[in-house]
Amino acid sequence: MTTDLFDQRRVSRKLIDLSGVWRFREAVLDVNESQIITHPEGATRMYERDGIFFKHEGENPTGSFKDRGMTVAITQAVREGARAVACASTGNTSASAAAYAAQAGLRAIVFIPSGKVATGKLAQTLAYGALCLQVRGDFDAAMRLVLEASQKLGIYLVNSINPFRIEGQKTIVWELLQDLEWNPPDWIVVPAGNLGNTSAFGKALVEARDAGWISKMPRLAAIQAAGANPFYRSFRENFAQRHRVAAETVASAIRIGDPVSYDKAVASIRATNGVVEEVTDDELMIAKRDIDRMGIGCEPASATTLAGVRKLRAAGVMRDSDRIVCVLTGHLLKDPDAIAKGDIIEIEPDIRAVEKILHHRATEDTEGPL
Ligand code: F0G
Repeated sequence: MTTDLFDQRRVSRKLIDLSGVWRFREAVLDVNESQIITHPEGATRMYERDGIFFKHEGENPTGSFKDRGMTVAITQAVREGARAVACASTGNTSASAAAYAAQAGLRAIVFIPSGKVATGKLAQTLAYGALCLQVRGDFDAAMRLVLEASQKLGIYLVNSINPFRIEGQKTIVWELLQDLEWNPPDWIVVPAGNLGNTSAFGKALVEARDAGWISKMPRLAAIQAAGANPFYRSFRENFAQRHRVAAETVASAIRIGDPVSYDKAVASIRATNGVVEEVTDDELMIAKRDIDRMGIGCEPASATTLAGVRKLRAAGVMRDSDRIVCVLTGHLLKDPDAIAKGDIIEIEPDIRAVEKILHHRATEDTEGPL
């Protein structure tokens, strides 16, 4: 397999070639093409703003990167004869699992932390027809419960502890390398919660290097919210011990205190000479507002990337000249309650009201009213 094959598929019209996951199929899953359950997904855009690249995984069919792993996990679930799939989720995995289960004709049962799932994500999960079990407890409690339920009741688990999820999520990295014409960046920056992506990204980079698709190894920067930072705490101690915390952050997607993919994520950071950073809720919300105002937009967890870049640049870990790709993991509309209440003024349907406001703005705003 060479990158030429992947580049040819990018201009093909076949559904599985259009999928940014199955375009790399030989390196994802050994499967008969007719068995693949694809929306299709992936093939997301890469934006460049102020010298930083943003790979927008919120442009997947259900609005988050989870679709890349889910297409593989659900394909495998059907191959194994599963009738129902289950996951614990802060909302994006559940939306994705529900959508792919619906496509495949499987039942989806999702375990979510009560009251802690963003509105858009819950709406999707219900709309796609999943059974929602709201667990009185946090994500970590929901995760423990679904692990027990899947073992005792034999339901197919589609959390990222499922290795097929990781195989799909590797393609985020391969596709961004392809976007850059296989000329690797210096850094790939990713939000870190349950650590599925951090695990997948390291594996993807090692495989890309071993296959000769890239000749230089980018460094991974995994960014956590300061209130949900067990991985950062371990990194600071050179991974001497695993930490668990009671998590609290405005970025509900990564409100996780005991990440399941810890060991694989440690291997990823080591293999890529990577770093782990933490950012406060204020820092990540400022970065989110800035990404929104670039006209790109993302949900809070995704903005840890830009906040992390700012911190790592200030610390001299990243240089201004470094080529950096931030992976935006979820869509702006996933979490409408986290959007800054901007300029909204109610007026009478009368031109004089418009004139009055614009005149007022012109006198206080140097940029003028329009
Ligand atoms: N960004 C978003 C938007 C997410 O939804 C998640 C995880 C992450 C980042 C963190 O990725 O877990 O691979 O380290 N969401 C999971 C869910 C937990 O249930 O939707 P990770």
